[in-house]
Amino acid sequence: MADQIIPPTLALAPSILVIFGITGDLARRKVLPALYHLSKDDLLPTDFEIVGTSRRPLDIDELLKVLELRLLEVDNVCDPAALQVFRQRLRFVQLDPANGDDYDALHQTLDDIETEHAVCMNRLYYLSIPPQVYGSVVASLGSRGLNQGCQHGQSESRLLVEKPFGYDYTSAEELIATTAAAFREDQVLRIDHYLAKETAQNILTFRRHNPLFASIWNNHNVQSIDIVAYEKIGIEGRIDFYEHVGALRDLIQSHLMQLLTLTTMELPPRVGDSAAVHTAKETLLDAIVPPALSDVTTKVIRAQYEDYREEVNNPDSTTETFVSIQLEIANERWQGVPIRLLTGKAMATKRTDITLCFGHIGPDTADNQLTFRIQPNEGIDIQLLVKKPGYDNAVHPASMDFSYLTTFDGHGHPDAYERVLIDAIRGDNTLFATSREVLASWRVLQPILDQWGHDSSDLRTYPIGAAKVE
Ligand code: BG6
Repeated sequence: MADQIIPPTLALAPSILVIFGITGDLARRKVLPALYHLSKDDLLPTDFEIVGTSRRPLDIDELLKVLELRLLEVDNVCDPAALQVFRQRLRFVQLDPANGDDYDALHQTLDDIETEHAVCMNRLYYLSIPPQVYGSVVASLGSRGLNQGCQHGQSESRLLVEKPFGYDYTSAEELIATTAAAFREDQVLRIDHYLAKETAQNILTFRRHNPLFASIWNNHNVQSIDIVAYEKIGIEGRIDFYEHVGALRDLIQSHLMQLLTLTTMELPPRVGDSAAVHTAKETLLDAIVPPALSDVTTKVIRAQYEDYREEVNNPDSTTETFVSIQLEIANERWQGVPIRLLTGKAMATKRTDITLCFGHIGPDTADNQLTFRIQPNEGIDIQLLVKKPGYDNAVHPASMDFSYLTTFDGHGHPDAYERVLIDAIRGDNTLFATSREVLASWRVLQPILDQWGHDSSDLRTYPIGAAKVE
């Protein structure tokens, strides 16, 4: 995207990005387009190479055709010259994750690239592969010495992993232990692309720089908080993935719990202090009260869109495509404020937003509220209640609306995956989830999984295109 500027102080070190699963859905839809844009906008380090791996042989020109189609689909345009420049950075190594020798061949390729560039290069391993094989790939990276930096010991390696980080609390703990055996915590970048959305990053900035709100950001003034992520799309053919995962694990455990932390955590004392940001998030997550098993049926709604079972060809599927959960934070600032997290697929519209309600007068009156629109129509809306002109005291809702599009003159902001990649290259882990955050989030959700595990009678259905599920 145009108009992005990486400040000169943020030097990007020479790096090699190894993408495991280069032919997969995520690489095609998100990672490769993001890399193409960064390359086209000249935002990548001069010494930067991409090594794709996959189990099957691959023709790079075929891969580029797929990328071109994707770019045309999303941007309506693909610059052939930029695509050729991008191609020059791209290599392929066939790798069977179960074959140790293949990791040695990869190791050799990385050393060769470094020799060609005559510079030490950081090594970034992006696991764009099914979660079931993460563990074994990470273990092999460790046992074959790929977790080290360059051959001269002057660079480092980092691991980028995609959610879901485990399937429940116990499996997350195991995954974290397997990873820790090969990579230090600061080498592991757990991607939550919602954190890399410009509008999500704006939450802390907004809170820090508007003292108008600082004194009312608490349970004396906020009556409720709703965090909503609805999508119009269904599961888009990701049958195996979705059947295994469902909406709670897919969206709530990661994206929505992270948005909740940004909204309610204490502000770290200094801007740009990654460790302080993570400590504040961990403290907040630790303060969330997990629902009691007996409350799950009243505090949690789960539902499945009509036709889902036909789509996944499983007449008995109990996988939820909609979830709404009500939580509470047991700390001085938020005690007593009901917080709802809602997500659903096949809903009427796509919207992700966070609403803090300051005043709810009655069912027929609009609320006094502040809404962060994470996407689309990115911005912030403050809804005020004013007197309607006339001889009585009728109240009318009036909106004060900030929109990125109008305020910033239509200039684009970095796509979330572009931001993820730049941060990975420069080794800034602020926007990635720590293992403590991952476990703290699972701790909150585990009672729901436990309850669902032995009773599915609460599962409802909703029509495709529903505006809400109640
Ligand atoms: C992913 C989920 O993490 O986020 C998908 O696995 C979901 O199921 C996607 O569709 C939504 O991302 P975005 O950026 O389009 O809101």
